[in-house]
Amino acid sequence: MDNEVLKAIRERRSIRRFKPEQIHDEELKTILEAGTWAATGKGKQDSWIVAVQNKETCDKLRRMNAKVMETEADPYYGAPTIIIVFGSADWRNNIKDGSLVIGNMMLAAHSIGLASCWINREDTMFETEEGKQLLKDWELPDDIVGIGAISLGYASAHPHIVKPRKENYYRIIK
Ligand SMILES: Cc1cc2nc3c(=O)[nH]c(=O)nc-3n(C[C@H](O)[C@H](O)[C@H](O)COP(=O)(O)O)c2cc1C
Repeated sequence: MDNEVLKAIRERRSIRRFKPEQIHDEELKTILEAGTWAATGKGKQDSWIVAVQNKETCDKLRRMNAKVMETEADPYYGAPTIIIVFGSADWRNNIKDGSLVIGNMMLAAHSIGLASCWINREDTMFETEEGKQLLKDWELPDDIVGIGAISLGYASAHPHIVKPRKENYYRIIK
């Protein structure tokens, strides 16, 4: 069987090269909206989504993430938009909920021709004083944790090699 959704699922790739130009507001809202429609444990909608397009703040996030990663490189690959997903520290489904929100947004991005890549280390970044200050600046609760982020923008290059899916990935027990 095949359809547009299945095709998008198959063809979405992690993109690590972005054009500097910013995406349109309508595109961003479409992607954020797709995140909000993710299934959530107990239907609690406990995730928070923050889309950062302000250059200074994006650069701060790049520095914070690079520090955790112990690199000089930009872990967000120069993407003009960085979307961070948070969840309540004490909610047992926080990582599962947030991961599904991120998955929805990556798929939505691909489906409208945008490039994205899941980026790690926001858990550690937002445990720091700098991270906690950002939560305050964004008027978010202070008892939340970073689940993950996506780099978002227009692709300037696509991966040449697509890793095949492993054998025995799934099995059907009848
Ligand atoms: C939980 C998780 C964390 C990831 N962290 C990073 C990351 O920090 N940097 C990065 O470049 N890619 C990251 N990725 C992207 C993976 O490397 C990528 O999904 C994988 O290589 C498969 O490629 P595909 O997304 O094109 O299918 C992450 C993906 C997941 C699901």
